[in-house]
Amino acid sequence: MKTSRKLFFFILFSIFLDISSTIISCYYTYENPGIENVDAKLCTHYLLIGTTKIGPNGVLQLPNDTVSETFSRLKVKNPNAKLMLSVIASNPHWSTLVSSPMFMLQFANDSVAHFRKFNLDGIDLDWEFPVWSWDAKKSDRFLLNNLLKTLRQAYGTQYLLSMATSGPPTITRKAYDLPKLSKYCDFVNVMNYDFHVYSWTNPVVGFNAPLRPMSREYSIIGEMNSGSSMETYSSLGLWLNKTVFGIPVYNLGFRLVNYYWSWPYAPAEGEVFDFSCYTDVCNLTSTKHGEVTYKEYWNDKAASSYIVGTDKVWLTTENPLSVGIKAKYAKDIGCAGIMLFQIVTDDWAGLCGKGKFPLINAAKSAFMGEE
Ligand SMILES: *[C@@H]1O[C@H](CO)[C@@H](O)[C@H](O)[C@H]1NC(C)=O
Ligand SMILES: *[C@@H]1O[C@H](CO)[C@@H](O)[C@H](O)[C@H]1NC(C)=O
Ligand SMILES: *[C@@H]1O[C@H](CO)[C@@H](O)[C@H](O)[C@H]1NC(C)=O
Ligand SMILES: *[C@@H]1O[C@H](CO)[C@@H](O)[C@H](O)[C@H]1NC(C)=O
Repeated sequence: MKTSRKLFFFILFSIFLDISSTIISCYYTYENPGIENVDAKLCTHYLLIGTTKIGPNGVLQLPNDTVSETFSRLKVKNPNAKLMLSVIASNPHWSTLVSSPMFMLQFANDSVAHFRKFNLDGIDLDWEFPVWSWDAKKSDRFLLNNLLKTLRQAYGTQYLLSMATSGPPTITRKAYDLPKLSKYCDFVNVMNYDFHVYSWTNPVVGFNAPLRPMSREYSIIGEMNSGSSMETYSSLGLWLNKTVFGIPVYNLGFRLVNYYWSWPYAPAEGEVFDFSCYTDVCNLTSTKHGEVTYKEYWNDKAASSYIVGTDKVWLTTENPLSVGIKAKYAKDIGCAGIMLFQIVTDDWAGLCGKGKFPLINAAKSAFMGEE
């Protein structure tokens, strides 16, 4: 298409979809990759994860000046980019924070001072998970509302507040008071992934981020997918105009017990960690690996692919097609945007021969409705 026509359609399209309010939120770990390799126009919101914590005394631990100054360079390249700090802490530390109005006010003040100093835009709360986890408290759900309210009052409309929330409906129902999240958060990043992870109590292979249930997946098992997650959120009062649909940009690996049993739910004897990035899998089936060969399979219901190696490696993988279908689904049900986890696991250097950030770009195009 000629540039002028493209521009015309873009403008026409913007009017209908209001692209200005679309959220493409991307998690980013400091130095992974170096800030100079992060495309500042790829996402609308960048969420720096791993360097913002909460101490045992309930005090917010902000990134050091080097980290925040480096992160803020994305703003120089794109003044419209929103830069947020994602807070990760152990459950007892979160519980301590929300136990005291003083601690929460202190959190609000400390964060605002840091936003001002480094030209940052807000906080993302990544509490995994209130009430649900073995070391969480029953009071978390109610007290979390006080934290959200305190931060909203301190931030006003000047600074952003978001939360990262669970994928499995079993957790979602217990952990959050969703009308309050709708009221106080600017948006909510739903982590629609990690639906099937290896554990010794559940030693089977499965999809990381299936879109819909497969045949013969019933009751709780039948809810372990992004579609059921979205239905749960919507029915419990999370507004769609604040719902940001999370899509993984990483793969999970399992070791099969028997190479000949390789369908989803086949027995696994452990995890494999060597294939988490798109660059680790983009050429796996098309290149030689000594004696080992890899074959890729697609599941329509899950809108996901998996790769099986003759060395008994079983990978639940994402590719431009799978992330595109998930993003299109998010758009069709009316979500405010998509969240991608995370920048470093995409092909940020363009080594797969599909340009830089092929997964995030595919998801973004599908959400924006481009070809
Ligand atoms: C700042 O924090 C980063 C990330 O945690 C760390 O690698 C670095 O050494 C720290 N720098 C200073 C000057 O403390
Ligand atoms: C937070 O800042 C406000 C206004 O600057 C101040 O009145 C309040 O005492 C501070 N609270 C804490 C806990 O530091
Ligand atoms: C978002 O959705 C809620 C519930 O449907 C509605 O009350 C609210 O006005 C909407 N907000 C915007 C900004 O459209
Ligand atoms: C994958 O294959 C493409 C096309 O054959 C090639 O250009 C690229 O260098 C390979 N990338 C990796 C990461 O192996």
